[in-house]
Amino acid sequence: MTFEQWMRSVLDRVETALDHYLPAQTTEPATLHEAMRYAVLGGGKRVRPLLVHAAGELTDARPECLDAAACALEMIHVYSLVHDDMPCMDDDALRRGKPTVHVQYDEPTALLVGDALQSQAFVTLTDAVVAPLQQAALVRELALASGSIGMAGGQAIDLASVGHTLTRAQLETMHRMKTGALLRASVRMGALAGTTPSADAMNSLDVYAAAVGLAFQVVDDILDVTTDSATLGKTAGKDAKDGKPTYVSIIGLDASRALAAQLRTDAHNALAPFGARAQRLAELADLVVDRVS
Ligand code: IPE
Ligand code: IPE
Ligand code: MG
Ligand code: MG
Ligand code: MG
Repeated sequence: MTFEQWMRSVLDRVETALDHYLPAQTTEPATLHEAMRYAVLGGGKRVRPLLVHAAGELTDARPECLDAAACALEMIHVYSLVHDDMPCMDDDALRRGKPTVHVQYDEPTALLVGDALQSQAFVTLTDAVVAPLQQAALVRELALASGSIGMAGGQAIDLASVGHTLTRAQLETMHRMKTGALLRASVRMGALAGTTPSADAMNSLDVYAAAVGLAFQVVDDILDVTTDSATLGKTAGKDAKDGKPTYVSIIGLDASRALAAQLRTDAHNALAPFGARAQRLAELADLVVDRVS
């Protein structure tokens, strides 16, 4: 199977699973459920679900179990996007090529869509397709990655940093938390959904995931200045306009590109112990660094 065929098959099954795990549009309160589905379905690159499935193949995880983990991660990710776009945070009107949730609906709905998606993520992770012992481990990974020492904490640092300059170490910490944590959790959760990986294997995967997680936000910072809104599906040039410290503003565009390339190499090197079995993870590191949106 080519990488494109593999991606297509994962994306198709994840879309079906997301539709299944989200409450129906007709279930009351219908507007909230419609808005949740508007935010989640039919858009986004689904990088986190792809990482879950690629890592899970290494530990022979059951695909249904990987779907549940993938959907839970995507729900948390979308909740973070919906809140990130609200006027009290980045105040963005465009996401995934569509009006953001607070523009299409209203601010209270956007707030509740994020809240409800966060809860639905944990409902999904405790579905009967996931064995009870694995549920506990996966819930803990996702909760840690999305909370105050992960995504939410990184977002707090991001907002507190507007108009300030950060040291390179502070910037790295912020990026590892606000974006890296959920990507890292995607790899870890995919692996944990199968037969328990050895400590060495988990450590190698963790090094890979940390490199890919940081690379993802470095590239996001680059694309904000190099790509147009139509290609990105979100407003380009927003970071400089808002006075956000980014890799581009702190170390410049060329050094940011060099860093992304270095992180790709680090990610590939970390996969060496797995040989050809880690091909999909290696290809996903390339996708994260080479992407244009
Ligand atoms: C955007 O994430 C926000 C960041 C964490 C950088 P993605 O680039 O994964 O957004 P979608 O899911 O493809 O829309
Ligand atoms: C977002 O970072 C990180 C999270 C949503 C947690 P950004 O603010 O850079 O994401 P975009 O550029 O709006 O997608
Ligand atoms: Mg933001
Ligand atoms: Mg933003
Ligand atoms: Mg950005």
